[in-house]
Amino acid sequence: MVRACVERFYFDHNATTPVAPEVIETMTPYLRGQFGNASSIHQEGQAAKQALERARRQVADFLGCSPKEVVFTSGGTEADNLAVFSSPGHIVTSAIEHPAILAAAKAHGNVTFVAPGRDGAVSADSIEAAIRPDTTLVSVMHVNNELGTVNDIEAIGAASRSHGAMFHSDGVQAAGKLSIPLRHVDLYSISGHKLNAPKGIGALYVRQGVPVMPRQFGGRHEHGVRAGTESVPLAVALGAACALDRENSGALRDELEAGILAQVPNVTVNGRGPRVPNTTNIRFENVEGEAMLIALDLRGFAVSSGAACSSGAVEPSHVLTGIGLSKEQAKASIRFSLGAGNTREQVQRLVEAVAASAAHLRRIAPRVAHV
Ligand SMILES: Cc1ncc(COP(=O)(O)O)c(C=O)c1O
Repeated sequence: MVRACVERFYFDHNATTPVAPEVIETMTPYLRGQFGNASSIHQEGQAAKQALERARRQVADFLGCSPKEVVFTSGGTEADNLAVFSSPGHIVTSAIEHPAILAAAKAHGNVTFVAPGRDGAVSADSIEAAIRPDTTLVSVMHVNNELGTVNDIEAIGAASRSHGAMFHSDGVQAAGKLSIPLRHVDLYSISGHKLNAPKGIGALYVRQGVPVMPRQFGGRHEHGVRAGTESVPLAVALGAACALDRENSGALRDELEAGILAQVPNVTVNGRGPRVPNTTNIRFENVEGEAMLIALDLRGFAVSSGAACSSGAVEPSHVLTGIGLSKEQAKASIRFSLGAGNTREQVQRLVEAVAASAAHLRRIAPRVAHV
């Protein structure tokens, strides 16, 4: 079989990012000769320990905290779970969190989910209204992964702490895109693979004195919070990724959005609250998002849709229905998330591909439903 070789363009950086060459270079020695266990007393162990602590300082500098406040984890999910299960009492969170928070909070059992506004933002007032005398944790994401909308974590954190509750924020989609105001935050999660480091590493910021309940038990690694021999190469990679210079102007996202709005009829941007500069989520009336995703994939573009396959059925995104869209509207939505490798030429080609795909899909499968 002859396969056409289509040039690939990646516009799904909120799903994951390529590992930066500098990051690979910095971590490689710890995969080759320098394989020591950071808990060992001998020289190999001490070299590993030094590398681990250097990485911890880099993460701390990036977050604006002390290295003592950084706990390495296996990623964002584990960091989020550690935060949720550190709450002895009632939890307040939003209905549009990542499943790493939603499912953990449901498993915890004592939780109130707060609806966001139509603009995709979660207000400090709505969170404060849900806080009860037995609330011990508020968890609200800094940036939403599907919409790119930014929550005012300073205001939400101040409201939570004024009621004596700890405040956690899932910063997985904010880190590297925004400055991180930790002033009113007690716990903050980040994930390496959204930041040009490999998968399998993340960190939880734990403000000094905030009690975190371990989820796994063993040795006294990571200040006694997270047992298990540390992955020095992955920690080094996260440290190096935190030290990268990043360009965050948002100019290309704006061009992409303006191009699609100008060239494709009947489209709407979902979640028009304040947003990070790399993300846009667009709804195409009378188009199946999944069909659009596949059409764009065949033309060489990787994007993501407002629906996910679960148990064989296509389910609309809880984030999009959470901000008030109908199931059909959610399923007609596509997320474009840009990153360092994207160029103006790629954006122009993507706009053309989107316009052609939307026209084609509307021609071959006109839908009656008004979305
Ligand atoms: C907002 C948010 N939180 C948590 C996670 C989970 O992070 P990880 O993939 O590192 O477990 C993701 C990943 O998509 C995310 O976007």
